[in-house]
Amino acid sequence: MSKPSTIAIDGTAASGKSTIGRLLAERLGYLYLDTGAMYRAVTWVALQRGLDIADEEAITALAEAVEIEVVPPTANDGRQYTVYADGEDVTWQIRRPEVDANVSPVSAYPGVRRALTAQQRRIGRRGRVVMVGRDIGTVVMPDADLKIYLDATVEERARRRYREILARGERADYGEVLAAMRRRDKFDSEREVAPLRPAKDAVIIDTTDLTVEEVLARVMELVEANCES
Ligand code: DC
Repeated sequence: MSKPSTIAIDGTAASGKSTIGRLLAERLGYLYLDTGAMYRAVTWVALQRGLDIADEEAITALAEAVEIEVVPPTANDGRQYTVYADGEDVTWQIRRPEVDANVSPVSAYPGVRRALTAQQRRIGRRGRVVMVGRDIGTVVMPDADLKIYLDATVEERARRRYREILARGERADYGEVLAAMRRRDKFDSEREVAPLRPAKDAVIIDTTDLTVEEVLARVMELVEANCES
């Protein structure tokens, strides 16, 4: 058998999904699609337009209308990819705290998920893709050739997020980051539509005590093993 063509990576926030997904895609020469960026882009545009995040109808209509593109980096400023919303570069805006605070409810609306899932499936069908998110192995690409689910303790994930914020030169409080992480975990795993959970056939990797290189090595083993099966 040849290399897996569609690879799904799901997991909790700051479990290492994005880093591993990007590096894996680079190694394999595949497209890297971070689907979280799409939910974030819808959230950012909604906030920009002054929409009420609680207004499900308005947010859903926006998700159906706005054109979101995630493409290889267009600037050399540390970005992993470039995100456009209706042609505007929103790559850094979607990392702002107000997006963090509002993206969970936006991503819980069934209509928003329907609109973004349809786009993600179209991209998945082309193959040679590493797609990262919360529901890739369960909903978006249930037939993915390889499914990986990454997790780590909430304290370790909060530490990673905290360091990321400091590295961007912003201020942060570890306790607050930890509390926000717990809230997001709860919301993402308890929502009715596409809740965060590993697919039955996903390989689960606990990254708490592993370096990025170690996780990548483990994932590459799985890719190779998949070739032999
Ligand atoms: O991975 P992230 O932190 O950028 O994701 C942002 C939010 O989007 C997160 O609260 C969960 C949601 N999300 C989702 O519901 N489904 C996905 N496939 C990806 C992200």
